[in-house]
Amino acid sequence: MYLLAVHASPRKQGNSEILLNSFLSGLNPPKINAEKIRLAELKFMPCIECGGCEKDGTCILEDALTEVYSKVLKTNFLVIATPIFFYTYPSFLQAFFERFQAFWVSKYLLKNPAPSQKPKGILLALGATKGKKIFECLVRSFKYVLDTIDGEYIGGIFIRGIDKKGEILNHPEFLEKAKVLGQKVCLLEKKDLAKPKDELARFLGLNLDPVP
Ligand SMILES: Cc1cc2nc3c(=O)[nH]c(=O)nc-3n(C[C@H](O)[C@H](O)[C@H](O)COP(=O)(O)O)c2cc1C
Repeated sequence: MYLLAVHASPRKQGNSEILLNSFLSGLNPPKINAEKIRLAELKFMPCIECGGCEKDGTCILEDALTEVYSKVLKTNFLVIATPIFFYTYPSFLQAFFERFQAFWVSKYLLKNPAPSQKPKGILLALGATKGKKIFECLVRSFKYVLDTIDGEYIGGIFIRGIDKKGEILNHPEFLEKAKVLGQKVCLLEKKDLAKPKDELARFLGLNLDPVP
């Protein structure tokens, strides 16, 4: 199976990247072929509402995201690791999400056949405050984004109260949780992906609901 991990923070080696790396360290490479992408290192545009995708459901912008979306269409897991910025997520991730509009057009306007992989979506998210609702926007957006490719959100690890660069290292329990998640993902067979999301979330130790 293939797993695409997208890191959304502009801060290199910050908390969300440390968390993501811990998750990736739990993966068992022969079982899963994983790839990590740091959005902040790529050159790309947000959706410019040009309508170019309305012709055949393909985004006409050609930049670093073009290749990323070809990976999105073949991945079994789409993992997003991100901090919370102003109750939502960094602009890099917003732009990445916006360009799924071409998939939305393909599915809902042009009624093209669905892509075959139907990836399972997992969030690794953290923020500085203890706010009950800080992950609400992220979860809602991610569900809609996944829907455009017939993917499915199966939960996340949501961590509050982490702010300074590297502060997550003071919480080995969170890093261990992410690593165990990686290990458990590798225990899944392709046929398991057809199981209901609650069952998958329970097996993987994920929270579907980000409210504590
Ligand atoms: C522009 C900006 C906006 C932020 N907004 C929020 C916020 O609304 N809620 C929150 O809990 N933390 C907020 N934070 C704090 C980050 O989520 C926190 O520092 C996080 O640990 C950063 O993760 P990183 O090191 O992976 O970038 C904000 C940080 C920045 C830089």
